[in-house]
Amino acid sequence: MKIKDLPCGCVPIRAIGLSVLTLVCVSSAFAQQSTAASSSLSPDQRADQLVKRMSLQDMHQLVQTYNTMGGQKMPDSIGTAGYVPALTKLAVPALQENDAGIGVQNYPTDLKKNGQPNHVRGEQGNTTPLPSTLGLAATWNPQIAYDGGRMIAGEAHAQGINVLLAGGINLTREPRSGRTFEYLGEDPLLASRIDGGEMRGIQSQHVISTIKHYALNDQETHRTTVSSDIDERAMRESDLLAFELAIEDGHPGSVMCGYNKVNGVWDCSNSHLLNDILKGDWKYPGWVMTDWGSDHGAMDAMAGVDQVSGIDPVSGLSLGTRFNSFGEPLLQAMAKGTVPRSRLQDMVHRILRSMYAVGLFEHPPVIKPLDVEADARVSQHAAEQAIVLLKNDQAQLPLQVGIKTIALIGGHADVGVLSGGGSAQVWPIGGPAIPAVKGPDWQWKVYDPSSPMKALQKLLPNAKMVYDDGSDSAKAAALAKSSDLAIVFATQWTCEGIDQPDLALPDKQDGLIDAVAAANPHSVVVLENGGPVKMPWLSKVSVVVEAWYPGARGGEAIANVLAGKVNPSGRLPVTFPQNEQQLPRPVITNAQSVDYNIDGASVGYKWYDLKKLQPLFPFGFGLSYSKFGYSDLHVSSDGDHVTVSFKVTNLGSRAGMDTPQVYVGMLADSGEAPRRLAGFEKVPLQPGQSHAVTATIDPRLLATFDVQGHQWQVAAGSYPIHIGHSSRDFELNGKANVTAATIAP
Ligand code: BGC
Repeated sequence: MKIKDLPCGCVPIRAIGLSVLTLVCVSSAFAQQSTAASSSLSPDQRADQLVKRMSLQDMHQLVQTYNTMGGQKMPDSIGTAGYVPALTKLAVPALQENDAGIGVQNYPTDLKKNGQPNHVRGEQGNTTPLPSTLGLAATWNPQIAYDGGRMIAGEAHAQGINVLLAGGINLTREPRSGRTFEYLGEDPLLASRIDGGEMRGIQSQHVISTIKHYALNDQETHRTTVSSDIDERAMRESDLLAFELAIEDGHPGSVMCGYNKVNGVWDCSNSHLLNDILKGDWKYPGWVMTDWGSDHGAMDAMAGVDQVSGIDPVSGLSLGTRFNSFGEPLLQAMAKGTVPRSRLQDMVHRILRSMYAVGLFEHPPVIKPLDVEADARVSQHAAEQAIVLLKNDQAQLPLQVGIKTIALIGGHADVGVLSGGGSAQVWPIGGPAIPAVKGPDWQWKVYDPSSPMKALQKLLPNAKMVYDDGSDSAKAAALAKSSDLAIVFATQWTCEGIDQPDLALPDKQDGLIDAVAAANPHSVVVLENGGPVKMPWLSKVSVVVEAWYPGARGGEAIANVLAGKVNPSGRLPVTFPQNEQQLPRPVITNAQSVDYNIDGASVGYKWYDLKKLQPLFPFGFGLSYSKFGYSDLHVSSDGDHVTVSFKVTNLGSRAGMDTPQVYVGMLADSGEAPRRLAGFEKVPLQPGQSHAVTATIDPRLLATFDVQGHQWQVAAGSYPIHIGHSSRDFELNGKANVTAATIAP
């Protein structure tokens, strides 16, 4: 079917500026009709009724998404990454799908502004970036993730967007992956709780969230061709468990299948992943959309794909491919009988039931101005809880009020903070802090205009602050020498599509830090980075602050932590290795398959525990300006249900937040890594205050996956329970006596 034949039924736009308004009028009409229809029915019943009224052409339209970003306009598209025209006669609103998890990609205003996409020049954005998703995971606080999700979806909804391509949850098997910053670290429980929070927040605003990229899209090298090879048990206990738990928590309307292959079969042609596991075992009711151009033929429909994304409106082909699997090929397959009509009906049912479930019919986007001040506060709050204090010798932080001279070195700390590149890039309001630099492909290196230096100066008005760009180590060292304190802002730009060659800071920054540390014994390093980095200079500096990509108000968040206005409370969601030799795969393979059976289910800290390796910083680690203690451990069990309770107390003299972590030890003959994270809670505490924590452990976290029996299996035994400050620092230890049990897959 050609674009011009699409039964859109919408008024063609005359001027881009009017297109959004047109959308609103049409959507409001949909809202009235459909509310009258049947709000007492379940989303599935409503979808059933609607599917019965749809022609083949109607249904066919809903399973194809057009890529309208970059100015490829279609009637009523607002220029987002994905667009499905409305079915006006059936009152089905258009889908306007936009990236994503860190904030709203800024295509709509770009188009409204001048009729041409200007995001490539990056002059102006109009939305608020959160800290990187890895930073959100470092908060260990699902409520922060919820608030962030609600904020970005509010901004989306106010611009005509009703689907956010968010929810990235690929586990950090490969810390050099260019998208590590878009994901949630290495542990299925932590990642799923944060993802679940964010997706619930997004969908609370009547914007559908995806979860992506299903599954094992864990590196960018050869991402569209590489096969992630792993056995069933290992993937069920690791990467897939993260998806399973997050879907249960967040109920995302859609799952995006990835570009890569798993065990030789494309993610989006993988009936085992999609039909057997996602829709079969997990009973996922929503729809599966492809990543942009990750479709591989009409038979993807039989493998479980419900919608092809990224079709070019001009060529009619899906992004970067020579076909559009669900265009003519799908119609031909239906004519031949290889894809039955009932399958197309199911595909459409799944899309519609998510639209009903999230409220797209009753709550169409309403275009309105954004409260960017309030939204920036949400982002700053997240960044403040995301920052991890990794080292603080002689309690050098918080900075003393009487400090006279501070050298700020590198990282454009005079004007901004770094962000990650690729489809998650959010162009900042007011434009980047310095002109954006083009990446090797379509990516851009962008600094958010939030100056750590200006924010610090406000907090320490009597200190003299001098900025040096760090390009000349000797010059920076001389400045450091003549200052009371030197702060080096070290950056590592990462982006979608490109992996890091190693774990080193780029651009000779290790040498810069060495030189500064040699010149001034009071040297602080603030990291703005995509994922774990090596720190050959660690013993020479007195403070290390991990700030990730800290988002719209990152400068303020960093300054508040340095000056003690905020007590740092972030904990690492990923292990920081000493070097690449400690990784399961010291070198990223250039081959067309990557062997994940090396680490199997032992991702991240589990690998270091299994191999008895001492990392640079362990998973779960993070310091505070206060000190917290644990006491009164009680462990009770009823069959395979274990409940752990204990007390956490603020033993220091400052208010702060702690995140006590519950780890469960695996039985010696289980064949598993020694321990798994089984619970956590982020707790605010005044000095001297205590709080009772209770954690109920999901039995799947005690279990192994029995492939033959097709079920989770909990072995009877006495399971060690540890309450700790990180995966390597336990304060309380107990045992849980568990009886044998099986759990449906
Ligand atoms: C990315 C997706 C993204 C899509 C649309 C792809 O390149 O892998 O995560 O949602 O583009 O922008």
